[in-house]
Amino acid sequence: MKAQSLNSFKQKFNYDGQILAGPYSQSLKKRLFKAMIHLDALEQFGSPVIPYIAAWRPDDNYIWYEYCGKRFHELLGTATAKLADSFRDQIVSRYLYRYQGNPLALVKVTRDKKQLDRLRPGLRRVVMRGGESEAVYKVVVDGKPLWLKDLAKVEIFVEDNIVLSWGSLINVSSEMCLEEALQGAQQELNTHKENLELLVDKRTRALHKSQLDVLSRLTRALACRDDETGLHGKRLRAYSSIIGAALGLNKGLQWALSKAVLMHDVGKVGIADAILLKKGRLTPSEFDVIKTHCQLGADLLQGGDSKLLQVARVVALTHHERWDGSGYPHGLQRQQIPLAGRITALCDVFDALTSPRCYKSIWSFDDAVDEIGRMRDIHFDPQMVDLFMANLAKIRLVTEKNGEVEKAAASGPIGCSGSS
Ligand SMILES: [Fe+2]
Ligand SMILES: [Fe+2]
Repeated sequence: MKAQSLNSFKQKFNYDGQILAGPYSQSLKKRLFKAMIHLDALEQFGSPVIPYIAAWRPDDNYIWYEYCGKRFHELLGTATAKLADSFRDQIVSRYLYRYQGNPLALVKVTRDKKQLDRLRPGLRRVVMRGGESEAVYKVVVDGKPLWLKDLAKVEIFVEDNIVLSWGSLINVSSEMCLEEALQGAQQELNTHKENLELLVDKRTRALHKSQLDVLSRLTRALACRDDETGLHGKRLRAYSSIIGAALGLNKGLQWALSKAVLMHDVGKVGIADAILLKKGRLTPSEFDVIKTHCQLGADLLQGGDSKLLQVARVVALTHHERWDGSGYPHGLQRQQIPLAGRITALCDVFDALTSPRCYKSIWSFDDAVDEIGRMRDIHFDPQMVDLFMANLAKIRLVTEKNGEVEKAAASGPIGCSGSS
């Protein structure tokens, strides 16, 4: 291009680029020249698209604009030569839209300014390979946010070692403002939801704690009549925890079971002292009264919405059921008996055998273990018996640790209603 026509072109199009006056091929210059005339015409028609032509060398980070729509200058308030740096400085974030995943889906990748500065050479290589890019830039001009959607096609001029990006910008500030407001509202909603869940969780735990408090007071009140030392409950808790762990129950269920077994006889609060504390054998009708403690306990624990109360109710109702169906109150058999009831039944009987009762003498640990083995598949779930036998060392530790105290306490009043 001759110097004179270049000067008039510069004036007419406010051209401030490098290629038309630089050491580049005629074909590149012609291409650029025609494109600028075409884009300028588009601007004259008042197109909402802001066209631009950016240029860079593949081996250089520097980028400049060969052409920019007037409104781009107006938006950023900068001359073409400084536009690239100015634009880069004012970018806050860039949303890059990409097809990712399997199946392919359009996803939005958000980069902040720091990431963009670090990743720019890599992003440029990706654009060169793909031939086009689509992104939304958030820039801040005079303290106000501005979103520009950028659609660009990249063309590589190998002979001139130049890459041109034929791009169009659209001001999408109103749409993106709305999207940001929606995102903000969504975040606020999520925070409220989390707070609400925490509050509900806190209230639920407080409610469960108060239910547990009432029940443990009730259990302690019963212990004053039936398990004065509290050692029966303590050992039962330890035995059932050993079996529950061996069975692989999750921690929550193990915890609920260990608390629930303490309330297995809570229904005895409804049994008259004359029967509950009677010395010697019970008559059949008295035993019928004793049997009602299962249902009484279940009724007492009915309606609780915590896992603990649900397990406690099951234990209270079913700890006298037997594997062969000869137990009470409902004569359930085998897997009809809930697991918690099967575990408690075994632990309760074993503890009754190894503890002093007014109607029987204390059994030795080995004799009691033999009795449990004999009752395998009759009174007890064979699987629970097998787990019990596989953990005898742990069971013995519990018996020995708490048994001595029990012996010392044996001279005082104790429950007389059989394995309870
Ligand atoms: Fe008991
Ligand atoms: Fe009982």
